[in-house]
This record gives sequence, C-alpha cells and structure tokens, in this order.
Amino acid sequence: MATAQIRVNPEDLKNLTMSGEQIPEPGILVIFGASGDLTKRKLLPALFHLEQAGLLPANSAVVGVARRPLAGEFAADMRAGILEFGNVAADDPKLEEFVKRIHYYALRFDDATGYVGLKAELDRIAAEKNIGPNRLYYLATAPEYFAPIIENLGAQGMAQPEKGQVGVVIEKPFGHDLESAKELNAQVNAVFHEDQVFRIDHYLGKETVQNILVFRFANGIFEPIWNRNYIDHVQITAAESIGIEGRGPFYEKAGALRDVVQNHMMELLSFVAMEPPSSFDAQAVRREKVKAWRAIPSIPATDAVRGQYGPGIVDGQKVIGYRDEERVSPTSGTETFAALKLEIENWRWAGVPFYLRAGKRLKRRVTEISIQFKQPPLLIFNRMAAGQQGEIQPNLLTIRIQPDEGISLRFGAKVPSAPSMAVCPVTMDFDYKDAFGNSSANGYERLLLEAMHGDQTLFAHRDGLEVTWALYTPILEAWAAKEPEVFPNYFAGTWGPDCADRLLEKDGRTWRNQFGLGVH
Ligand code: BG6
Repeated sequence: MATAQIRVNPEDLKNLTMSGEQIPEPGILVIFGASGDLTKRKLLPALFHLEQAGLLPANSAVVGVARRPLAGEFAADMRAGILEFGNVAADDPKLEEFVKRIHYYALRFDDATGYVGLKAELDRIAAEKNIGPNRLYYLATAPEYFAPIIENLGAQGMAQPEKGQVGVVIEKPFGHDLESAKELNAQVNAVFHEDQVFRIDHYLGKETVQNILVFRFANGIFEPIWNRNYIDHVQITAAESIGIEGRGPFYEKAGALRDVVQNHMMELLSFVAMEPPSSFDAQAVRREKVKAWRAIPSIPATDAVRGQYGPGIVDGQKVIGYRDEERVSPTSGTETFAALKLEIENWRWAGVPFYLRAGKRLKRRVTEISIQFKQPPLLIFNRMAAGQQGEIQPNLLTIRIQPDEGISLRFGAKVPSAPSMAVCPVTMDFDYKDAFGNSSANGYERLLLEAMHGDQTLFAHRDGLEVTWALYTPILEAWAAKEPEVFPNYFAGTWGPDCADRLLEKDGRTWRNQFGLGVH
C-alpha cells in the first residue's frame, strides 16, 4: 500500500517546546510498596525525567516505604533503575543530586503505630530540606493494603493537614467488581476528599491517548463526520505478545476483562466517543466521559467472548500455554483474551457498534483504534488496482497508541497510467517518532506532574469507575458461573480464538488483521 508522510515544521515545534510547564510546589512524594517493580521501572525514571526537564522543585524529596529493611540500598537500587529503564547516562549531571533526595522508611502497612514514626520521619525530612507541608502519597502496593494504608494515614492526621496540599495516588486494580470498587471508594472518601484522590490508569498518561482529544477537538474537520452518519463501526484492539510475565497469582484472579478492558480500553473508548467538553478541566472532561459510558446498555452474554492461550510460537520463539505458567492452575478457567461488542445509545452513536478485544500472547504487540467509515452511497468504481480483486476498501482512520505511535488515514487513489479507473488504497501517515523524535517518557511523567499540581483531568473518577464496573460485573459473574467450554482455545502467536472472529462475522465484518493490524 502506498504511503504519504506528514511532517512537522521545526519552527512550530521550537516555539511550543519553549512555552514551558509550571513547576509544582515543593513537597514529598511518599511511595508505598516502593520495593516493587513499578517504582524502579516506571516511577523513579519518570521522576528523573521531570528533574531533567527542570520540572521538579529543588526542595522536594521521595520517600520509599515498604516492609523490608532496605535503608541505604534503596537509593542505589533506584539509581540503577533510572539508568536502566529511564535511558539515562550514568554521568548525567543531575543524577547524583537527585539520588540524594531519595529516602526509605521500613513499615508494615497494617501496623498502625508504625505511622507515628513515618509521620515524624516525613516532618524531619521536610524541616531539613525546607519542603513545607505538601505530601503526595502513592499507593503502589498490592490492593489489599490500600484500605489499611488510607485508614492509618487518616488516623495519624496525615491526610488532612491544616496547611498545604495533600493527595493520594492509587494504582490499579481499583476493585475487582462493582461492589468491591464501591467499598474501596467509600474507604478512600472516608479519609480523603474526592478532589485529593488520583486513581491511576496509566493509559491516560500516554501521549497518544491524550492526542485523541487533541485530534478530535483541536481540529475542525473531523468532528462533523465523527458520528453515526459517517462511521460504520469502531474497533479497539489491545494486543500483547507477552504472556503474564510471572504474575500468575495476580492474573489468575484478574483475567483480561478486569486487567485491561474495564479500565484501559474503556478509557480509550471514552476518548473516542465522548462529546466535546466545554473546557479541558477535570470536571468537564470527566463529566463527558461518564456520560458516554452511561449511554452503553448492558452487554448481552452472546456479545462477549473469552479465550485462553495454549502453547505456540511468538516472535519465532516457542512459548508455553497459560495453564503451564508458574503459579497458574493446570485447569485454570481464567481468560487471557476477551472480545466484545457494545453500543452507545445516544444521538451521536446509535447503531454504530464498538468492538473491543484484548489478549496476551497474540501475534504482535499493538494497541490501536480503527474507525471505519461508511462507503460512498454509490460505488461507481468497483475494482481495485489492476490484478487485485475485491471491492474498494472503505476509508479507515487508525489511531496507533503503541508501539508505533501515530495516526493514519486510508483512502482510495487512482492508479496512474492504469488502463481503466483502477483504485488503489493509499495511506496518509503521521508518525510520532518521525515528527517529534524519540521520547524516553513512559507516561508516568505526565501523571506524576499532574498529581503534584493537583489536576485530576487524567485520573479516573469514582463515578466513572462505578459505571464501568457496573457494565462488566454481570459478564464476569456469568463467566465465573459457567466453565469455559474449551480452554485453551487459541495458540500463542495467533490473533486469538475463533469465537472472536465469529463475533464480527455475525455482523458481516472482520477484525482488522488481514488489512495489517499495526502496519501502516
Ligand atoms: C497493565 C496490565 O495494567 O497494563 C498488564 O496489568 C498489561 O497486564 C499492561 O500488560 C499493558 O500496558 P501497556 O502500557 O504495555 O499497554
């Protein structure tokens, strides 16, 4: 397929990158569960990227909190993480000073008295470094500790200081069904006011996800056709080639629907489907997202299918099946793949199906949204280029979230010098890396910065979570009540089980594999 590229004028870029961001107020970031992977791989590298960009106040500190007595080792380990996962050179001039601001405090999360010592330690660091009362607590622990940590912070008066700004960032999973999400929301809001709460969905930190809003609402030409009159259907795919990466016990309880569909994929869907917010502030954006989700009627059991991978070949390597993974039951009924069809019953979208699918150990890693437009009312050219068979392909707008971030638009063009009016699909392509260069950012930079500023726009709200859990809980319950018929039902390294294909075939459609998913 022929491709035309889109370029960025370097002068435009220069003006923009110079326009600058606000530096947050000084404060202490307290990371609970700091000995876990997330802190080393994502959070500390992201913080250091902020430091490199001059976006961290000089008088700020990071305090890692976990059970093990790590003391001095912690800062050294974080330094190694910054180098390895942050793509940072060991002689970076800002590194050593930054590492000096990393502290550690050993605490059992459910030990109420331990928080007295933690509070004293935070006050000590704050006084020594002239930091003041601002605190941001980041809960990167296993979910069973969220409630005890919050309760203990409340009991020690650490959640509502008289002065300063205090917030709590909560990692996923936020509940495992509607009831547990409601209960956790109640526990959180018993201690923290809703405007202090930052529930993470790391997809909202991705530039390409935020760009969906820019694409739709900073450009005048797309919005008029962004509706049921012009759009045939929408496909959202979150395909991963990796397996469960040693997270057996977590994944056994989660499964694909809880792990990525209820949260990440619904965020993607809301950005595509929402009405234009009146401004880009947290209240306005969240209100529109929740309105879109609320317009989704319950999903019939026949419109949701599940799968589990067996052994196969991924990227040329033999891989084992899910049931053979470490700490996974050999008869596990957990789904590693889910696909579903949903509708949004409002004036913009009535009658336009949204097809979602997510899975592990699929052929390639690709997360993308493809918006297929309707065919012209009358097809006067009914063949593609000479030698090719088939109908003219409909216009397709593809928003590639990862790994090959960009946007492409497929349309038909006349093949030059062909004997007749032969039409060939061509693609107009915007590639993030080509246009803006490589970025080592992992998405947490933006989320950490926004939380430090107290801006909740890119975080999940309690209402939204409860709406999405209400949608998926009946499916989870139905799946739990009925053993899957044949598991495993797809080979690792394929595009998933046949039942996912049938879901679209019933509607006379196909998934975007044969057109080159992730290929532009
Ligand atoms: C996480 C899930 O939330 O998202 C993982 O727990 C999944 O199972 C990951 O692999 C996908 O994130 P990304 O950014 O790699 O698409």
